[in-house]
Amino acid sequence: MRHLLDTVNLSREDAIRILDVAETMGDVAGREVKKLPALRGRTVVNLFFEDSTRTRISFEAAAKRLSADVINFSAKGSSVSKGESLKDTAQTLQAMGADAVVIRHPASGAAQRLARTDWIDAAVVNAGDGTHAHPTQALLDALTLRRELAARDGVSPTGRGLDGARVVIVGDVVHSRVARSDVWLMHRLGARVTLVAPPTLLPVGVESWPCDVELDLDRALAAGPDAVMMLRVQAERMQSSFFPSVAEYSRRWGLDAPRLAVLPPQSIVMHPGPMNRGLEISAAAADSPRSRVLAQVANGVSVRMAVLYLVLSGANTPEGA
Ligand code: ASP
Ligand code: CP
Repeated sequence: MRHLLDTVNLSREDAIRILDVAETMGDVAGREVKKLPALRGRTVVNLFFEDSTRTRISFEAAAKRLSADVINFSAKGSSVSKGESLKDTAQTLQAMGADAVVIRHPASGAAQRLARTDWIDAAVVNAGDGTHAHPTQALLDALTLRRELAARDGVSPTGRGLDGARVVIVGDVVHSRVARSDVWLMHRLGARVTLVAPPTLLPVGVESWPCDVELDLDRALAAGPDAVMMLRVQAERMQSSFFPSVAEYSRRWGLDAPRLAVLPPQSIVMHPGPMNRGLEISAAAADSPRSRVLAQVANGVSVRMAVLYLVLSGANTPEGA
């Protein structure tokens, strides 16, 4: 695998391979010494032009657990504020010997741009570009759900997809790179995904995505999904108002205690984070025993170890974009 840019063209086989490697990497986290020598001597640059807590820290932890050297770059406080371009920034990092560049950027397509030009020859991993894609988030979501389904069936998660699983993804779909990446990956792994959102928060062209679309959250929940993923209302990407009021949004599209109560006992609750508690998700749901929010974070380290290992070890799988 040369780069990881998107999940749209990631094959089922490659996705399962990443998840299986992530399972192996996850075992390292349980050891007293959480380190493997696999990427000794390689340099990973975290290039973050947009804020992040989970993704940035987990890529750093993942690279360190594989013994790579890590350089953390955040646009705030860098020469980007002096007008330096993405190209010049990337080439500066290349000159410092980056083998892999993990990039988060507010512009959709920034990761592709970095990978497809001759600005750098490092492997590129997309850590979220605009409203476009967040492939490692989708992979950690799939890993979390796959583990859940396997545990329920009393089988090993390794080698499996998400066949027959039903997933409901709710909320601000139009601004969500997570929803986009999840829909494609989960579809490819055999899950049936239903998006639920107010019409104003559904993207143009959603009919062509491989999923169902529903406007009524209660109807979607009544079907008894295996997982309900609540999306953050991304206020920072909203120039105008997309719904009448916060109270109206949480009444119609929020996961509150009564909605939590109608879910079948085995349904899990997911959220990519950061959460707006009291808006798309109530504290009752976020802190309930069904919540897998922290499991998602822990699985994020394993998935990012797997991705860094696969792009830097020269393992021969397609680039998934
Ligand atoms: N953290 C995720 C992202 O960066 C989801 C979110 O911010 O709502 O896409
Ligand atoms: N889920 C996610 O990408 O979180 P951060 O924005 O904190 O990295």
